[in-house]
Amino acid sequence: MHRCEILFFSILFCLLLASGFEEVEVETSSHLPPSMSGNVADIFSLFLKNLQRSPSSSGTLNMATVEGGKPRVRTVLFQGLVSKEDGAVGLSIKTSSSSRKYKERDSDQTEFMFWLPETMAQFRFAGNIEYGDPQERSRVWLDLNPAARSQFFYDPDDGLDTSTSGAAFRKEEWAVRKRGLDNPPDNFEVGVLFPNEIDFLNLQSLERQNWQRQGGEWTKFSGYAPPVVSTVY
Ligand SMILES: Cc1cc2nc3c(=O)[nH]c(=O)nc-3n(C[C@H](O)[C@H](O)[C@H](O)COP(=O)(O)O)c2cc1C
Repeated sequence: MHRCEILFFSILFCLLLASGFEEVEVETSSHLPPSMSGNVADIFSLFLKNLQRSPSSSGTLNMATVEGGKPRVRTVLFQGLVSKEDGAVGLSIKTSSSSRKYKERDSDQTEFMFWLPETMAQFRFAGNIEYGDPQERSRVWLDLNPAARSQFFYDPDDGLDTSTSGAAFRKEEWAVRKRGLDNPPDNFEVGVLFPNEIDFLNLQSLERQNWQRQGGEWTKFSGYAPPVVSTVY
């Protein structure tokens, strides 16, 4: 994986400035014609503005993978946006290498879904997730509070404990005391999803946008349709 830069707050700020806080203009058509107006920064800007206005989402997203041919989905915390040197923007999450989403995934193909209640918006980002960038791993670790860091010292081989003061939790505490929380243990993983498709639905206005990347170019499909209709056929 190429070197990732930390950009969450700077991107948020720059995109909001660049967009002048205006809503992205959407074509109205029942046939959702393709539009090449596609500066993909528009959809990331829209996403960040919606995220800011939706505190009740608590920064969570739903992460879908395929494991052993079966779909699996779970809640994880969003850890920010990052960009590659070639300008590709990705979404960061953290997990343990002992988790199923990491070690049992059939492939890197992953989808992140955000439902943002205050703005009644759904954003879906699909593409390949890349694990193992040392800089991004270090950035996310440093962002975590002590409790969030400590959980990575729980030995997964111990399975479920009988209570949070049981032997496995005491072992976790002991490991933290011994190692300290400055450096992450080996199982700490950060994944960055670089989307090749972004789908947006505003449940209030029925505004739809679907962005697809092919050969480095983004194409935007946009318009209005009922929520149950797929944005692109
Ligand atoms: C609000 C919330 C936030 C969570 N954040 C994370 C997270 O950032 N990373 C993570 O691996 N699991 C997180 N979890 C736990 C996952 O939902 C899941 O139970 C765990 O990762 C194991 O999933 P898996 O067996 O499918 O890999 C969170 C759960 C909740 C309810």
